[in-house]
Amino acid sequence: MADLAGPEVAVWQVLEARAHDLLKRHGYAEVRTPILEPTDLFARGLGDTTDVVQKEMYTFTDRGGRSLTLRPEGTASVIRHVAARGAEGLSARLYYLGPMFRSERPQAGRRRQFHQVGLERLGEPDPLADAEVIALQVDLLADWGLEGTRLLVNTRGTPEDRVAVSKGLQVALRPLAEALCEDCRRRIDTNPLRVLDCKRPACQEATRDVPSPVSWMSPESRVYFDTVVRALGAMGLDAEPTPRLVRGLDYYVHTVWEITHPGLGAQDAVAGGGRYLLPLEGKGIPGVGFAVGMERAVLALESAGRLPEPPRPPHVVFLAGLGQAAGLANLGLARDLRRSGLTVLAGDCHRSLKSQLKSADKASADWALIRGEDELARREVTLRRLRDGWQTTVPDDPDAVRNALVETNES
Ligand code: HAM
Repeated sequence: MADLAGPEVAVWQVLEARAHDLLKRHGYAEVRTPILEPTDLFARGLGDTTDVVQKEMYTFTDRGGRSLTLRPEGTASVIRHVAARGAEGLSARLYYLGPMFRSERPQAGRRRQFHQVGLERLGEPDPLADAEVIALQVDLLADWGLEGTRLLVNTRGTPEDRVAVSKGLQVALRPLAEALCEDCRRRIDTNPLRVLDCKRPACQEATRDVPSPVSWMSPESRVYFDTVVRALGAMGLDAEPTPRLVRGLDYYVHTVWEITHPGLGAQDAVAGGGRYLLPLEGKGIPGVGFAVGMERAVLALESAGRLPEPPRPPHVVFLAGLGQAAGLANLGLARDLRRSGLTVLAGDCHRSLKSQLKSADKASADWALIRGEDELARREVTLRRLRDGWQTTVPDDPDAVRNALVETNES
């Protein structure tokens, strides 16, 4: 887990502001769910046999003896939220930003507390909805300035397909068990699909000739997937069908996808998503959604030299005061100027003028307003334009100061 400070925070603020704007323009409303949930929500929602549930959740018992978990992702909480809203919730379009927690082995692009921008669009399966959500994710990354991404798409089929796929895969994988790693040997029985996306070269080599899971799926599921790929093509998106793309969460049905970036190294997925049927209160709740990893997006932008420039406030005024009485007078002037929308910084009135002006320079201020003993006695302030050192005196009155700032800016 890491602190976020300094210029990095400014970059995050730009990305977050653009995400809020873009997602709202697509008709999504923000939802903020708690970062703690009953453990059961994730265990049932994401699937008992997933790595996230088996190995990565921060789970503890609270003082009331309840098992709670720091959210490892956002989808399950959003579905819990909409399920409580009844029928109206079933057409919800919601987005979220915030920290997620997974106790994974840390490495470049992998944190134990990381942040996602995600969204969920509830509703019955429709390949066009899937394609639209994928396009929105691509557009969000493009809006952030990220180029050179790859869009990998695949299908998980329906829950019925999944039974057929698991059976077919188990038959194909059992004879290869000897050559597989320990995790994969266990997964043949618990989650055979995951064997296909094991990153270990020996496992990849051993399973090279195993048929694609799609070969066990129904014609309807294949048509669904083809429609998604065609819709993406019609929108000008270059989607790469990737039969071995599995994704680590069990709630997916039909379309799944990942967006990768070459600047990221081993953990190259900057974003992922899919259509799901989330089991909750005895029913399956259908939807489609995605999440972008903020840390990875920032890393990818950095590697491409495309980090956004935080906007500079248009007018920055620096108040320098010499001594306690000048400092006190500056407090009132600062409040008045800030209330009129200016960015006002103030120096430490117990330090020298030189040192205060150095701070003004460091803060890239446009003007300094200087109040020493003389100015105090004459009820004036000295206004200095910092770009060229030109200066004048102005009556100690917020309106007079504001007018003088406008005039000196234009002259
Ligand atoms: P996910 O693929 O598990 O999907 O996570 C989405 C993104 O979060 C990843 O592509 C990655 O960028 C980032 N991420 C995941 N784990 C870490 C980590 N340990 N450190 C840094 N970044 C990480 C989901 O979470 C689904 N809820 C997405 C979704 C929404 N599917 C449907 N709706």
